[in-house]
Order: sequence, then structure tokens, then C-alpha cells
Amino acid sequence: MKINKNIKLSKFTSYKIGGPADYLTIVETEAELIDAIKFASKKNIPWVVLGKGSNVLVSDNGFSGLTIINKLCSFKILEDKLTIGSGYSLVAMVNKLARDGFSGFEGLCGIPGTVGAAIVGSAGAWGYEISDNLISIRVYDIKNKKVKNIKKNKIKFEYRKSNLENIIILSANFNLQKNDIEKIQEKIKLFIKKRIEKQPIGFSCGSFFKNPEGYSAGELIDKCGLKGLKIGGAIVSEKHGNFIINSDGAKAKDIIDISKIIKNKVKKEFKIVLEEEIKYIGF
Ligand code: EPU
Repeated sequence: MKINKNIKLSKFTSYKIGGPADYLTIVETEAELIDAIKFASKKNIPWVVLGKGSNVLVSDNGFSGLTIINKLCSFKILEDKLTIGSGYSLVAMVNKLARDGFSGFEGLCGIPGTVGAAIVGSAGAWGYEISDNLISIRVYDIKNKKVKNIKKNKIKFEYRKSNLENIIILSANFNLQKNDIEKIQEKIKLFIKKRIEKQPIGFSCGSFFKNPEGYSAGELIDKCGLKGLKIGGAIVSEKHGNFIINSDGAKAKDIIDISKIIKNKVKKEFKIVLEEEIKYIGF
């Protein structure tokens, strides 16, 4: 395990924002990940695990502790079951399965981030949920310092959240169904097309806020006339109100400032308090 010091976290986030991590390590095996946590415990410093850094906003001051970059990327198909490392890219997983003729994951194809993060955050799109084909996960239990398996029926999946706390997902098991490769590819193409039509490209963390029950965050922000609002290097996308883009070297502070304006305006206009879908690190 190689521990690096004073590494800029902007290199590891889809926002391309974030100050330095005091310590940073890239782990490729379960043993390395567990060693990294032990290193932090010994030093008595906080630690955080980042996958692809696509659903986080890291402070301009960085993270004073150990940042663990999860590259647990094993991939093994045995008959109709897949065992996959938690650091595997979700997009890469969906595409690889599609090429091998396995269906049931098509709608997840444009969701950024890793498989582990998708499970913890109960990711989904277009009626597909990461939990649909899940059988179980292998995790490191932080409190008891033990590796254990958790079956799907012991996990509570809700809209964009799960009850998975105090654990780090190491790998996941999924059921696979064979289907016609061309049909799968066609579905994926359609979902990608829809995504391109509705969602902007550029440095972002995807949807910034969760959809409040019965509402669309993007629509509420749009109705407040906030699209195109620019603070520093951050802008509310003209294409989709729930995307705050780093368009021009934005600082985390710009994103925070713009998100505060959005929250205040939506609260004032609709009496609805928007809740962040993204996670804050180092604040
Ligand atoms: N809308 C507007 N103005 C906007 C944006 C949206 O009026 O600026 C309207 C749309 O016309 C539509 C409704 O709001 O009637 C919902 O918008 P959309 O279909 O784009 O879906 P969404 O609810 O904003 C959710 C997920 C996305 C996921 C899509 C597709 C959340 C917070 N967002 O978006 O997930 O891709 O559905 O399933 O749950 C993500 O989580 O990062 C993400 C991108």
C-alpha cells in the first residue's frame, strides 16, 4: 500500500473541484483497503472512500485525513451470476454485460460512479434500479472490523438511499439474464439518447438535489427562473435545472453559494426544502 501526501482531490472528482488530501492511497485489493483503514485508525485520522468521485463536492480546503481511492475492479461471471468489485465503473459494467448478452441493467448505463456507490446510494434511472438484480454484497464492517456478507433482503433500499451505514462494500453479486444482444444494445442506445437530450455534458456531479416527493427538483428550479444563473465559475445548466456545472474553474465555494441561492428561492416560491443528493467532503 502506497500512501501519498498532499494530493489534490480535484483530480479524483467529476466536478474537477477539491483541495488537497493530507494522505491518499489507491487500493486495488480488499486487503489493501482494509490496511488503509487500519493506517488511518492507527494515526487517529479520519478517512473517506472515493470511487469515481462523481456524486461528491470536496471542499476547497481538501480533506484532512486519508482519502482511499477504491479500485477494487474484479469481474467474474459464473453461469448466471456476476461477482464484481465495488470500484468497478457502473457504466463499464452495464456495457460489458450488454456485449456478453446479459440484460436487466440497461437503464443504468449513463449513471456515473462505481458499482459500490450505486448500491449505497440506491441508484436508478428510467425505471431500472441497481437493487433489481442484486443478490448480496460482501462488505467490511467498520465497527466490528470484520468482512461479512449481506443478503439483499437485509438491505433497505429507498429512493436514492439505503440503510447501508458503517460498512464499505467490497464486492457485489448479481443475477444475470441472457437476452438478445442487439435488443439490449438498442435499449442502451435509447436511454443514452434520452440522457443526452435531457442532461447537460460538462463537469458536474449529476443531479445535485434529490427529487422532493411528488416533484422534480429540475422543474422547480426551472420554474424559479434560475437556469443560467452564474456564480464564479459555477452555472445552473440551461438544459436541466438540477445540474450545477463547473463551467469555468469553479471553486467548491461557488457551487455552495449557487446551491444556497437555489434552495432559498425554491423554498420561498414553493415552500419546499431541497435536499442534496450529493455528499459533502471536507466541510
Ligand atoms: N424538467 C423541467 N425543467 C428542467 C428539468 C426537468 O421542467 O430544467 C421536467 C422535465 O420536463 C420532466 C421532469 O421535470 O417532466 C423530470 O425531469 P427528468 O425526466 O429530466 O428527470 P429527473 O427527475 O430530473 C431523474 C434522476 C436522474 C435520472 C433521470 C432519468 C433524480 C434526482 N434524478 O431525473 O438521475 O437520470 O431521472 O431516470 O432522481 C442522477 O441521479 O444524478 C441522475 C441524473
